[in-house]
Amino acid sequence: MELNKKELFANLHFEGFILYPVDSKSEIVTHCVSQIKAISEGEIKDGYQLEKHLEFSSNLRPSVKDYDPKFEEFYSEIGVTSFLEDYLNYEPKISTLQLRGAYSGSSYLSWHRDTHFYSNAEEPSGNIPPIFKSIFYPNLHGSDPRDTLHVSNGSHLRYFKNKNTDLLLPRTPLFKRTKVSESNDYVLVFNTSILHAVLPVKGLPIFRMIASFVGDI
Ligand SMILES: [Fe+2]
Repeated sequence: MELNKKELFANLHFEGFILYPVDSKSEIVTHCVSQIKAISEGEIKDGYQLEKHLEFSSNLRPSVKDYDPKFEEFYSEIGVTSFLEDYLNYEPKISTLQLRGAYSGSSYLSWHRDTHFYSNAEEPSGNIPPIFKSIFYPNLHGSDPRDTLHVSNGSHLRYFKNKNTDLLLPRTPLFKRTKVSESNDYVLVFNTSILHAVLPVKGLPIFRMIASFVGDI
């Protein structure tokens, strides 16, 4: 797939996220989609289960990497790992790989940054420097894609020490927001210091595979 890397680099830096294109018909993508679909329907290999995470979400346990090695290979095969290596100038490794279902009801996580240090806190929270994550939200049922994540464009480059101010701004029309939806045609790649919020699910659960990339593990 011909990528305009320069443009993607600029978007990843200034917007804080990109939708990295993938070939939905490739073997690795069709394999992962069908595996995730089976898991979402409760067809899960012995020794593994979906464990409640927060009120409206569950994680595949005990290990997504061991459940199917292709889940981890997915990121190198689609080119996200080498894309991030070119962007970061070091070879990133997947420190954690999660497969999570988000269920109908309220959102399981509202506006937040994974990395933050607010004025009422004693110490910073999250990874410093902030890590990059790549999330695949497969469209498991071929239905109309549903929005599933809200991101506040460029918010990783602005910051308010006051938590209330920082978390209020993405809710206002002052800043651009983007909704990311279920798709087998791209994965989200983002700087985890960006403000983001999980959107509530209507209907069948929305599954997501989340890879966290770190420099040295
Ligand atoms: Fe997050």
